[in-house]
Amino acid sequence: MTPGKIILVTGGNRGIGFEMCRQLATMGHKVILTARTSDKVQEAVVRLANTGLKVQGEVLDVSKTGSFKVFAQRIEAKYAYLDVLINNAGIFLKESLQSLTEQVLDETLKTNLYGPIFFSRELIPLLHNSKGGRIVNVSSFLGTMSDMNRNYTAYRLSKAALNAFTLHLSVEYPLLKINACHPGHVQTDMGGVNAQRTIEKGAETPVWLAVHTEIPTGKFFFDKQVVGW
Ligand SMILES: NC(=O)c1ccc[n+]([C@@H]2O[C@H](COP(=O)([O-])OP(=O)(O)OC[C@H]3O[C@@H](n4cnc5c(N)ncnc54)[C@H](OP(=O)(O)O)[C@@H]3O)[C@@H](O)[C@H]2O)c1
Repeated sequence: MTPGKIILVTGGNRGIGFEMCRQLATMGHKVILTARTSDKVQEAVVRLANTGLKVQGEVLDVSKTGSFKVFAQRIEAKYAYLDVLINNAGIFLKESLQSLTEQVLDETLKTNLYGPIFFSRELIPLLHNSKGGRIVNVSSFLGTMSDMNRNYTAYRLSKAALNAFTLHLSVEYPLLKINACHPGHVQTDMGGVNAQRTIEKGAETPVWLAVHTEIPTGKFFFDKQVVGW
């Protein structure tokens, strides 16, 4: 993909989301950095501006599905189209099945699953206005069927469903490129200090899926390679 694409990142104020915004802006793309409060948007935009990078900021809480229609109208009025949506925002509440509450399951699904489902649906007309619209869902190996294991029930289910949704959406919208990826175990607030992977490396594959010229659709990636769901 040539520079100058319009790319929206959810959860862009810290962690992998912030790093993706940084890498994409460095490549010359027009980045719409979103975060759930105006303070967080402002702080992240200023942090990037201090390194010489200009990005656009917008407030978006992905758990507030009722706000998506007005948000999409605002993006359409400002930009008319969108080239790439990166559904990155996520939470990891680390409950086991024994300690799981309905509240934790609700909160996790709202952020990690309902958000990407309804936000993608709202932005698909704008992605169709692009010459090569794409969606990148930042998922996790913890949601893969082949690696299903103990603990983290809510998170695993949310990412397994996000993977299924990715495949489903790619069939529903064959004109778009729609993929999911695992970023690796990354040194963010979520990944923790013992994670081996740098944030730069963690952002590499979702950034590649957003901008690389030739990519397939309906696949799950790790380190730029297709892997099993
Ligand atoms: N780190 C890893 O090892 C790892 C491994 C596999 C997959 N992942 C996935 O990678 C993605 C990014 O993770 P990360 O490691 O960068 O996590 P992180 O450092 O905890 O950052 C999470 C980001 O999501 C945002 N977010 C959470 N809930 C939100 C909401 N309701 N609305 C808008 N933004 C919200 C956070 O914003 P606030 O600052 O407002 O909380 C923050 O910007 C997630 O989808 C995660 O599941 C991470």
